[in-house]
Amino acid sequence: MAVTIKTKEEIEILREGGKRLAFILAAVVHAVKPGTSTLELDNLARKLCEDGGDKPAFLNYKPAGMKRPYPAALCVSVNDEIVHGIPNEKPKILKEGDIVSLDMGLNHKGLFTDHAVTVPVGEVDDVAKNLMEITKQALYAGIDAIKEGGHIRDISYAIERFVRPKRLGIVEELCGHGVGYKVHEDPYIPNYCLEDQGEKLKVGMVLALEPMINEGSKHIALDDDGWTYRTADGKRSAHFEHTVVVTKDGADILTQI
Ligand code: MF3
Ligand code: CO
Repeated sequence: MAVTIKTKEEIEILREGGKRLAFILAAVVHAVKPGTSTLELDNLARKLCEDGGDKPAFLNYKPAGMKRPYPAALCVSVNDEIVHGIPNEKPKILKEGDIVSLDMGLNHKGLFTDHAVTVPVGEVDDVAKNLMEITKQALYAGIDAIKEGGHIRDISYAIERFVRPKRLGIVEELCGHGVGYKVHEDPYIPNYCLEDQGEKLKVGMVLALEPMINEGSKHIALDDDGWTYRTADGKRSAHFEHTVVVTKDGADILTQI
């Protein structure tokens, strides 16, 4: 499928949806404490979504290649879980020292935004703090690299260049993506540099950038639940994601309050 360009009107709807999504995710973050269950977080995300008259985009979503639809509104990935942790089937109780990634998609008036953050549960060690900070900065390095007329590889290059010297593992099998009419659209946005320069960046493209960075090696494994990706070495992983729109002077972040 070709890369799509959204109209001004569609971008305004995505901007409103992104703001609502950022608000919901911030409320979910606020509920994260030692003793909170992942099920409570999913229920809160669902409720806030419905209160706003919107739909959780991940609930029952089945991307090509996956065996079954995603069963929750929110992805909650704890410690060595990288992404797509399921909060409601075997709920977990969060404990002091954990790090938890919260990832959610929102369908507002038929248009989709996607957003994720990783946060500490209570007090966490310095290695975890560093991992989260580097991953967040990697996302912003990617966003800063967006220029009309540039290419997708500029984003990948900026993320890799920022992370590489820190000696952390960049997940290669999962990547960012176009978003807006659907949860996942072309193009793929790898978090490391490929030879191909990728699509040209054009005003009105809507992209979800999402570096996933591991404390140890880059290798990943898929759980028996068919969804949860975790690190192969059992070390921790962090994930930050924003939906952005390419503008004539760079990019605007849509998933912020
Ligand atoms: N941000 C995640 C991604 O782009 C969302 C996955 S949707 C799910 O991979 F339903 F597959 F969880
Ligand atoms: Co995404």
